[in-house]
Amino acid sequence: MSAARHEAAIPPRIRERIRRLREQINHHNYLYYVLDAPEIPDAEYDRLMRELQDLEQRYPGSITPDSPTQRVGAAPLEKFGEVRHEVPMLSLNNAFSETEVLDFDRRVRERLGVEEVEYHAEPKLDGLAVSLLYEQGILARGATRGDGWRGEDVTANVRTIKAIPLRLMGSGHPELLEVRGEVFITHEGFARLNENQEREGLKPFANPRNAAAGSLRQLDPSVTAQRPLTIFCYGIGLVRGGTLPSTHSGIMEQLRGWGLRISPLSRVVQGAAGCLEYYREMAGRRDRLEYEIDGVVYKVNDIAAQERLGELSRAPRWAVAHKFPAREEMTRLLDVEWQVGRTGALTPVARLEPVTVGGVVVSNATLHNQDEIGRKDIRIGDTVIVRRAGDVIPEVVSVVKSRRPADARRPRLPDRCPVCGSEVILPSGEKIARCSGGLYCPAQRREAIRHFASRRAMDIEGLGDKLVAQLDERGLIRDLSDLYALRLEDLEKLERMGRKSARNLLDALERSKQTTMARFLYALGIRHVGEATARALADHFGSLEEIMAAPVERLQEVPDIGAVVAESIYLFFREKHNRQVVERLLAAGIQWPSTPRKSGGELPLAGESFVLTGTLGSMTRDEAKGALQALGAKVTGSVSGRTSYLVAGANPGSKYDKARQLGIPILDETAFLKLIGGKQQAKR
Ligand code: IVH
Repeated sequence: MSAARHEAAIPPRIRERIRRLREQINHHNYLYYVLDAPEIPDAEYDRLMRELQDLEQRYPGSITPDSPTQRVGAAPLEKFGEVRHEVPMLSLNNAFSETEVLDFDRRVRERLGVEEVEYHAEPKLDGLAVSLLYEQGILARGATRGDGWRGEDVTANVRTIKAIPLRLMGSGHPELLEVRGEVFITHEGFARLNENQEREGLKPFANPRNAAAGSLRQLDPSVTAQRPLTIFCYGIGLVRGGTLPSTHSGIMEQLRGWGLRISPLSRVVQGAAGCLEYYREMAGRRDRLEYEIDGVVYKVNDIAAQERLGELSRAPRWAVAHKFPAREEMTRLLDVEWQVGRTGALTPVARLEPVTVGGVVVSNATLHNQDEIGRKDIRIGDTVIVRRAGDVIPEVVSVVKSRRPADARRPRLPDRCPVCGSEVILPSGEKIARCSGGLYCPAQRREAIRHFASRRAMDIEGLGDKLVAQLDERGLIRDLSDLYALRLEDLEKLERMGRKSARNLLDALERSKQTTMARFLYALGIRHVGEATARALADHFGSLEEIMAAPVERLQEVPDIGAVVAESIYLFFREKHNRQVVERLLAAGIQWPSTPRKSGGELPLAGESFVLTGTLGSMTRDEAKGALQALGAKVTGSVSGRTSYLVAGANPGSKYDKARQLGIPILDETAFLKLIGGKQQAKR
């Protein structure tokens, strides 16, 4: 059946509905992808799209190439066809300094014989150039720049980019209009794309430009459709059967009116001074833009003047790209050193032959972690690409493999911490290697003390960050246990520390010695050992010596302790430095009442599960929780069928209703106090 016969079969009401749906979808597409100002929720858009798809499926004769349903769906290609650019796609001359811009402006003024020139200033996007050919306002062809004369036919791919209209809006389009612009990807789109690449075990893209180019040059358009590509249009090529405004800015406005995406940062400026002011403004905004720009472009605004100026060897005389300092440079990797962070993480740092990147001399750059070095196959002696973006720490992006010297060698993760000599461990399944001497390592000392003294750990009042820093700087604390050796004379000499506060601190230290095993275990700052785990360990083993001596399998017998946590505890106590510090702490007088083992004499509330809601008058929620846990009860955050009791204080929340619904016993404050009072007696 011919398309015409098909069409004839479409009832006028349906035809009208299809027309209206396409109009609406195109409009919302435009708001979303071109203006970045959506008006309706995604779900509503999807609904319109589904309705159109359904109708088109029922009436295949109604489908036209410019229907919004027809963006994706073309079959993969064997290879791209070739496109000849009737008007060649030129490139731009670069200016790298203000002087070069002044020279450009002088040449333009001399050739035109005028005092001052009006320019159109635009951001220079870092993506890839495309040509979009519209015939009677319908997108007929998309092509890459190629060598400027011949490019690749990427029509099917270009059609998947939602910021590119399949049909121009408005009226007055020339019969043939070639629009040119830069296809690119935002920083966010780039990050998302690379996450995806990694998840699927594929190679991540080195930068947004490569990602955009790689995405547009896909033989399978359904792949391109998945990539977050967008466009800013910046010029025109072939125009036939119609007229356009006489200035570049006017043409851009016209294109904007036809639904094409134009950079909102472009503007008309006067003379070289206006250009340079624009440059400085954009350089200042560069780091806050959602996409990469590598400079700005100045174009003589008057089209007749552009034509008089003409071009010279593939670049127009009427435009220049004023480049920002590059963010990426090449240099040699001299060595790799390992820095130990305050949590013990070992970070490889590249020592580089100094190189100026983005106007700053860089001689160190981060290599992130051991895994990254392997993934990027970085070796000492390699020529590497270093990137410095804004205020971010410079990083080694990649290696120029073709320049690898024969004696390049792999950086090796050290066996021992470069700061304290404790063993370095790379926990199974983790990417970050760590120094295992958490209690001893000077790099981790401040963090270790801060955690040790914190309220929920040893609760040493008055030992704040500033004080810890002073104690550390003066060499008064080499490891945690030295805290308990501090003397009044030492403390009094510190800044902002009078006799009274010195005494208070010593008292607080003294008080902290009476603690619980769970608090002490938590205070040691063992990786993955939070309060709950510390409590579970204390309950299960009942003795610190046993925990310190336990093999991984025994540690895993503790409820809720899995392989990762068990390994972490095990390795912590294998490190002799840590064991020494623990012994010194105990020798300093830290002690706790011996806790009965859960597996032995059962605690009175063992096996019961409590949920707390509302405010209690006589204690904080943490205290109530502590009291329950001390009696062996589990305290959880939400009510379920397994909850034994809900403790409801004043103004209870939704947990109260839930408990009532489920018929779970509810204790008010009096009943609760009676329960724990009674049970505490039973415990004694
Ligand atoms: S105008 C004849 N304007 O830069 C003028 N190009 O280095 C040709 N580019 O191939 C280009 N932003 O891919 C122009 N606002 C802009 C641009 C821009 C990025 C790219 C374009 C071009 C390359 C030249």
